[in-house]
Amino acid sequence: MIFTTIKLFLIMATTMSKIELKPLPYGYKDLEPYISEQTLIYHHDKHLAAYVNKTLELIADTAYADATLEQIMLSADGALFNNAAQVWNHNFYFEQFAPKPQTKPEGRLAEAIDSAFGSYRKLRERMTAEALSLFGSGWVWLASDAHGKLKIVSKPNAGNPLTDGLYPLLAIDVWEHAYYIDHRNARVEGVNALWHIIDWRIVDARYDAILNEQHHDSLK
Ligand SMILES: [Fe+2]
Repeated sequence: MIFTTIKLFLIMATTMSKIELKPLPYGYKDLEPYISEQTLIYHHDKHLAAYVNKTLELIADTAYADATLEQIMLSADGALFNNAAQVWNHNFYFEQFAPKPQTKPEGRLAEAIDSAFGSYRKLRERMTAEALSLFGSGWVWLASDAHGKLKIVSKPNAGNPLTDGLYPLLAIDVWEHAYYIDHRNARVEGVNALWHIIDWRIVDARYDAILNEQHHDSLK
């Protein structure tokens, strides 16, 4: 278990995350009309900021005081897991969008999607259906195992595939706060809008990093 955890940390080296409110990688109006300025202000500056502040409050003067988000997520539970995972999940979510995205997967990820789901269109349909059927709050993930095999994973609340030993590639936030300002109760509209701004350059790079790490391991 310790080895698995260390390996996981090595693979996720680019996301050994400090606990802080990271700025958005684009302007508040840049994802319109798919995500409004008002939604980004609330989602990032209010909801994410609250998760960051609560995590910092919970770890102050504890054994987790100097821990990374990943270390907390892989060993804590309860309120600390929930708040730390929500910070990680939102950082990962916000980083996958761009005003001028690459609109489809390419390269090795495109091949893996065709192999696992039949086509990119079918992947979208499957993930959207998962997002609509997830009861209450949670996340729908496209994830990979260490060998590059893809899987769609639904998690309630703050759940994240890292705790199953899988590597997240793409996240859909299905908490109401992600879409209620723009779409009220119509979760389907909120989810459909995201497909226009997901930058597959970023998702392709996340997948390549996992495969490259696997290749690197095999050379040792
Ligand atoms: Fe959210």
